[in-house]
Amino acid sequence: MKKTCILYGSSTGNTESIANILADKLGADKFDVSTAPIDAIKSCDNIIMGASTWGIGDLQDDWETFLPMISDLDLSGKTIAFYGLGDSSSYPDSFVDAMGIIFNAIKDKGCKFVGAVGSDGYTFDESQAIIDGKFIGLPLDEDNESSLTKSRINAWIEEIKPHF
Ligand SMILES: Cc1cc2nc3c(=O)[nH]c(=O)nc-3n(C[C@H](O)[C@H](O)[C@H](O)COP(=O)(O)O)c2cc1C
Repeated sequence: MKKTCILYGSSTGNTESIANILADKLGADKFDVSTAPIDAIKSCDNIIMGASTWGIGDLQDDWETFLPMISDLDLSGKTIAFYGLGDSSSYPDSFVDAMGIIFNAIKDKGCKFVGAVGSDGYTFDESQAIIDGKFIGLPLDEDNESSLTKSRINAWIEEIKPHF
């Protein structure tokens, strides 16, 4: 059976809470990127990468440290999906940028990307996570739209599951 892992970095716990929900729903293992889970990456077929955005369009701190560590890894044959936590009201010009930053760092590594999400239903001006007209992964906004999180997650899981 193919193994699914969730790698997350979280400063105030929002991305971690979502990792817990996804792990339950998908029967996946989860790893905090602050523990530098390189071996987990090697052993997982499907990887969900979860990151929040800080500063103005910056990667969450633990991802900032971890991303360079995976730049030499061979990700060929792996299926990757992203989710990103952000605040579309306070940071409409850098909404969930972290997903785009991680995608751009690994896009040429031979992995397959799944789980892009249309921007309908989100209010923002700019995002580095928009790739070819869609969010490269699932944006979630616990600061302003937490009532939508459950339905967004459920719809996204139906979308990614067949690829895993
Ligand atoms: C100082 C600060 C800067 C932030 N910058 C951004 C940003 O540029 N873009 C964005 O979408 N969200 C931004 N956010 C919102 C966080 O990403 C959001 O609160 C997220 O849920 C935090 O997740 P975490 O607890 O897993 O780190 C910022 C929040 C704070 C407090």
